[in-house]
Amino acid sequence: MGNINYDFTGRTVIVTGAARGIGLEVAKHFNNSGADVVMVDFDGDEVKQAAETIDATAVQADVSNTDDVERVVQDTLQRTGRIDVVVNNAGILRDRVLWKLTDEDWAQVLNVHAGGTFRFTRAVVPHFRAQNYGRIINVTSYSGIRGNRGQANYSTAKAGIIGLTKTSAKELAAFGITVNAISPNAATRMTASIPEEKVSEVTGPIARFADPAEMANAIAFLASEEAGYITGVVLPVDGGVSM
Ligand SMILES: NC(=O)c1ccc[n+]([C@@H]2O[C@H](COP(=O)([O-])OP(=O)(O)OC[C@H]3O[C@@H](n4cnc5c(N)ncnc54)[C@H](O)[C@@H]3O)[C@@H](O)[C@H]2O)c1
Repeated sequence: MGNINYDFTGRTVIVTGAARGIGLEVAKHFNNSGADVVMVDFDGDEVKQAAETIDATAVQADVSNTDDVERVVQDTLQRTGRIDVVVNNAGILRDRVLWKLTDEDWAQVLNVHAGGTFRFTRAVVPHFRAQNYGRIINVTSYSGIRGNRGQANYSTAKAGIIGLTKTSAKELAAFGITVNAISPNAATRMTASIPEEKVSEVTGPIARFADPAEMANAIAFLASEEAGYITGVVLPVDGGVSM
């Protein structure tokens, strides 16, 4: 998979959930495009190993913890003097039909997806406003757009991310900041447990899961300086399944 070729030289990019899957491909992509990449993940060992392969900075942090998120932003600003792009990608699943969901399943999923996206957005806004520039890319899901059996918590969190994307796009446009989301459909550990007979149902007309690098291309476009007139958009990068 080739790289869409936007130049991120001199830019600092934070990617959450970067130890594997989509986040890792996004980190690689920005690294190849010249950015200083900060790879954030709950799994400290895995993200450290992943970052060593591409010469990025690994940080163990939990996006559902405000102190962790503030620490990542402050340490990054101290080290590089700037942050230009945040990709809010970290995610978990706690799937069960809704009548079996526990309060913990509910709270954890909302707190990681919607809460983590909110915390990172809030943490970078003062800096983005001061430099009058910033790009925020959130990661939502088909489940948040259309609903999905077994995912009442996840679809609520992902729908919440759409609301947050649009509201922050409106609040931040005056400060040179754009906020957009993608809705992916890629082969990762998250989709690996989908049974073979269900794959065609969830992949749409293009009838395959994407390479996670295809998500990175879309994110890089939305994160580019050139996409400055695009904000509040939810871009399905899903082979057409959400049509
Ligand atoms: N793969 C798909 O087709 C698909 C479809 C729709 C949405 N998504 C979304 O894309 C994003 C990435 O998914 P993926 O398929 O690469 O999943 P993945 O499970 O391979 O990767 C998720 C990463 O997030 C990290 N993470 C989880 N909780 C965290 C926390 N509290 N703090 C920091 N890091 C944390 C995990 O350790 C992991 O490295 C998720 O938000 C997911 O909901 C994926």
